[in-house]
Amino acid sequence: MEFHVITLFPEMFAALDSGLIGRARQQGLIAIHAHNLRDHGLGNYRQVDDTPYGGGSGMVMRPEPIAAAIDAVTAERPGLLKILMTPQGERFDQPLARELAGHAGGLLFIAGRYEGVDDRIHELVDRELSIGDYVLSGGELAAMVVIEAVARLLPGVVGNPESLAEESFGDGNLLEYPHYTRPEEFRGMRVPEILLSGDHGKIRAWRAAEALRRTARRRPELVANRRKP
Ligand code: ADE
Repeated sequence: MEFHVITLFPEMFAALDSGLIGRARQQGLIAIHAHNLRDHGLGNYRQVDDTPYGGGSGMVMRPEPIAAAIDAVTAERPGLLKILMTPQGERFDQPLARELAGHAGGLLFIAGRYEGVDDRIHELVDRELSIGDYVLSGGELAAMVVIEAVARLLPGVVGNPESLAEESFGDGNLLEYPHYTRPEEFRGMRVPEILLSGDHGKIRAWRAAEALRRTARRRPELVANRRKP
């Protein structure tokens, strides 16, 4: 799948060169292209922002450079889903990650900066997404969060697909059961005996019960809204 981003800071996306996502890029399973919004800036100074009509503090991103950048990218790739990253968007979560992973035409993110983007940009995009109720100084990190969450759901990116079903928000939308490895005892804390028993049926049942118990304690709303696996 192709991921494109329109940003004033394309160099930030080098963060996606490492780990699982970096390997997926090397293997050609995904491609990530960061397009510099400055290339579409206005005039000699390549201006991309301006003072707000009606007054107020801060700068607002002008619509023309963003529109020109969207047009340039989508002229080559008409199937891209256009997504504006903004704290005012729909809240991104695992079901939405799964939905976006199914969009074979690829994803185009617009990462805003400054106080916001001219409101008319909303008309040019398909969706607006927020990664949570807090404000970042730009949409770049938010776009990277979505790219990472979507990319790892694509075929071949995570080596063992079973681990996707078992992890938090996987099948059943629960938090994941607790994991342990060596040593059997660490600072007086022992690994639960059942995990050392070799009884795989009992271990499976214990893990399912722990996942439910942990979710009920930490995130009761997930249990209340639970879809049956
Ligand atoms: N840009 C700034 N803050 C953001 C957030 N919380 N989610 C998405 N984009 C953003």
